[in-house]
Amino acid sequence: MNKSMPVVTPQFLSDSQYNQAEILRDERIFGRNFYNIGGRRENERILDLAGPITPARVLDVGCGLGGPARLIADRYGAHVDGVDVSAEMIDIARSRLASENRGDDVVLFHSDILDFDTGTTYDLVFSNCAFLHIHDKDRLVSRIRSLLRPQGALLFADFCIGEDGPEMRDYVERYRYDIRRFDDWDELLARHGFQRRHVEDGTERHAEYCREALGGPGINDEWHDVLTKRLDRIDRGQHRWGIFHYGIGAPA
Ligand SMILES: C[S@@+](CC[C@H](N)C(=O)[O-])C[C@H]1O[C@@H](n2cnc3c(N)ncnc32)[C@H](O)[C@@H]1O
Repeated sequence: MNKSMPVVTPQFLSDSQYNQAEILRDERIFGRNFYNIGGRRENERILDLAGPITPARVLDVGCGLGGPARLIADRYGAHVDGVDVSAEMIDIARSRLASENRGDDVVLFHSDILDFDTGTTYDLVFSNCAFLHIHDKDRLVSRIRSLLRPQGALLFADFCIGEDGPEMRDYVERYRYDIRRFDDWDELLARHGFQRRHVEDGTERHAEYCREALGGPGINDEWHDVLTKRLDRIDRGQHRWGIFHYGIGAPA
């Protein structure tokens, strides 16, 4: 990691976004066990984009409360490991999983993905809106590459930068994000041996979810402000939402 990268510690994430009280309060906006705009519907959409895949073992990076991991396990009959650097997210998710008594098809780990290694490899690495927190993208992609089986794939969604503008720059700085352009991902992933399968610009759909959420449950003044400003950045062409499906080798 180069010295100019801002330091994003678990404590910073907890202070700025992911402390237990706010997680439980804000989850109402996204739907139970989800922590991103669009909730279950958007995760389903992301999985649809990968086509008819049959992964047996999946890793969800930045798994949050485990909603996407449960969805993936149910959809494919897969075993899903989730990893998240936030102890608050993992604690809530683990206690819910234990009370659901759903067996061991979803297992959650408290770790930074950059240090994550249980010796297991995966058919699919999935992630929804977590990569923006991670500055060392080369290390991230290289870690994911080493966690994938031959013919494995990476399927993720994240915010992307469009037009340059002060509104987006302020937002990125405030939350210490590292958000890339669509083309940056293509170059980065190719450099690590990934081949592009499909990329979708989901910005319009994301904007629709934001507008819907503004009139939905759980909206307080803070989230009203967050979503109104996001819609403004989207209107200005600065803030976008991308879904990326990349594989190593030919599709299995
Ligand atoms: C916006 S939430 C999304 C949660 C979940 N993917 C969902 O869609 O419901 C982003 C998550 O990424 C996690 N995260 C951030 N940096 C991480 C890292 N370096 N390693 C693992 N998880 C990380 C955060 O703790 C947070 O739970």
